Amino acid sequence: MATTRRPMMAANWKMNKTVVEAEQYMAALLPRVAGAEGVDVAVYAPFTSLPAVARMAEDSEVIPGAQNFYHEDSGAFTGEISAPMLLDLGIGSVVVGHSERREIFEESDDLVARKTGRALEAGLIPVVCVGETKEERDSGKMWGKVSGQVRAVVEGLGDVSAESLVFAYEPIWAIGTGDTATPDDAQDASDKIRNLLKELKGEDFASGVRILYGGSVKPENVGEIMSKPDVDGGLVGGASLKADSFIALVEEAQNHAS
Ligand code: PGA
Repeated sequence: MATTRRPMMAANWKMNKTVVEAEQYMAALLPRVAGAEGVDVAVYAPFTSLPAVARMAEDSEVIPGAQNFYHEDSGAFTGEISAPMLLDLGIGSVVVGHSERREIFEESDDLVARKTGRALEAGLIPVVCVGETKEERDSGKMWGKVSGQVRAVVEGLGDVSAESLVFAYEPIWAIGTGDTATPDDAQDASDKIRNLLKELKGEDFASGVRILYGGSVKPENVGEIMSKPDVDGGLVGGASLKADSFIALVEEAQNHAS
């Protein structure tokens, strides 16, 4: 079953790049990934660069994505951006519950679940991030934390297809630290998440959902991580900021396409 999942390589720019820098990046990326068969390539840009990224990606296979949104469609929510606003720009996907949103901006499991539900309804592919801190891992609480995050999202879901959402296992201690989880750690967490999805939503759903790994992924380590059977790609911050480095990651992901 694992071979039927399409690998995905996702660039998470975080709070980086002006519009001009975003345009330069896309101009370098697009011709180089035009032939990337069998892999989904997504770029999660800051809101200000989304119009440029979406416009430039329009005639390509690259999925333009946002890093966050709010689950209400309009109204008195100062500073927020809604699903219809993203759809209006041609955005196809959105990161939900990134650990930086959870830790710095105090997004709760409940909020992450609402955002996931709204993204699905709107036809935006949510990339739902889960992961534990160093302290949680060291004190044997990794799975308690991650399973709670997955349950909060999945228990509220109606009838959705496995292709309509993506999970990203991102141990917080590995994000931006250079301290990558071992390929076995990534596999172990992904396998556990897949088994929980099976328990909650059945075998077909669980075997079809893509689970990415994120946390200090770079061209040198992505091959080994993606060779693990339950890891379907990467959500990449630092190593996605330069087009050349992200292109190398996409090329490696292609080696894992069926
Ligand atoms: P990193 O970030 O690749 O810089 O560790 C990954 C992420 O936070 O999505």
